[in-house]
Amino acid sequence: MLIKDQWYAIEFGAAVGAGPVRVPVHGHDLVLYRSSDGTVHAHSDLCVHRGGALSGGRVAGDCLECPYHGWQYDPSGRCVKIPANRPGAPIPRKARIDTYPCVERYGFVWVFLGDAPEQDRPPLPALDGLDDAPEARREGCRAVTGTFEWQANYDRVLENAVDIAHTPFVHAGSFGNPDKPQIHDFELAEERDNGHLVSVTATVDLDPPAPSGLWAKVYRTKGERPPVRTTTGFYPPNVSMLIVRPPLGEIRLYTAAVPVDEHRTVSKFCMLRDFFTGKWADRDSIRRTLKIFAEDRATVEGQRPELLPFDLAAELHVKSDSIQLAYRRWRQGCLDRGLGLAAPSGPEAGHRAWVIPSPARVGDSDDGDDGDRADGWVFPAVAPAAAE
Ligand code: FES
Ligand SMILES: [Fe+2]
Repeated sequence: MLIKDQWYAIEFGAAVGAGPVRVPVHGHDLVLYRSSDGTVHAHSDLCVHRGGALSGGRVAGDCLECPYHGWQYDPSGRCVKIPANRPGAPIPRKARIDTYPCVERYGFVWVFLGDAPEQDRPPLPALDGLDDAPEARREGCRAVTGTFEWQANYDRVLENAVDIAHTPFVHAGSFGNPDKPQIHDFELAEERDNGHLVSVTATVDLDPPAPSGLWAKVYRTKGERPPVRTTTGFYPPNVSMLIVRPPLGEIRLYTAAVPVDEHRTVSKFCMLRDFFTGKWADRDSIRRTLKIFAEDRATVEGQRPELLPFDLAAELHVKSDSIQLAYRRWRQGCLDRGLGLAAPSGPEAGHRAWVIPSPARVGDSDDGDDGDRADGWVFPAVAPAAAE
């Protein structure tokens, strides 16, 4: 279930260069490209002529050109050229693709998936430590990025990222301490902006295990490891955060859980550290981060049901689960407001293409065309799922 009308971090800005880039999101393909002024644009990756994948084409001028018959779409999504037509022939009004508001910030490309008008959209989250400009990180910090693929639903992946009590068990081989599994009480900090939930975080002291590898050398001179103050939480809909504060400094991990479809997720992470800031330690930072994801993999991919149950009472919750519960409450609130989009299924799905609705479908486009109606589009929008 995709929650619409949200800003999703779906790709690294650095991954979008001169050519179009396909990003699958929840069973729909999106295409990103960069125009000559450096702006990233996001569209449905579906040509309205014969359903060609625009991401297989090229950027011509500032337009996206379909690889099949060369139709060109401008950044607003309007078709501006049909090469097979005689010059001057009118371009049908329906010759347009869905265009999604798109912002590049903190090194990620954020795409607003949905049709809510601008005044009703939640703000982008503030990811402390990551600057607007992709390469300019907080002074004294070094950043690395990476990706990790899961055969699991993104709700499960996101919940795992903010789950504190699994650490002593799933991560006993790295930073978890199986001898001290008890989680001290913690308070949730919830931030709202204009009625939108923008973050839920919690800080708790975790007992680390005995150091190993590079850390063992560091701690040999320092003796027993003190508790590690750890902050974790999420920014709806798909970004999680983890701050770990070992005595040496601070590690910050921001991870976008990109829902490829109901059963696959790609985690795209940016990890900042304010110690060992030389390039020499980058490989070790990436390796350690991927090792932690790999430790989680079997557990997360083995969870059943694969998708989150709708009913909060369908699983048993205890106090240490309160961040995940906050996520489930947020998600349920969205479903109750009709923001859930279920991927089309059944026999018709093989014969028909659907798209995630964009703001222009409700007349909220900036091209001065206020007469947009559902019947003005070639491909239907996925309908909201009935509230559970
Ligand atoms: S399918 Fe895209 S131009 Fe024909
Ligand atoms: Fe984990």
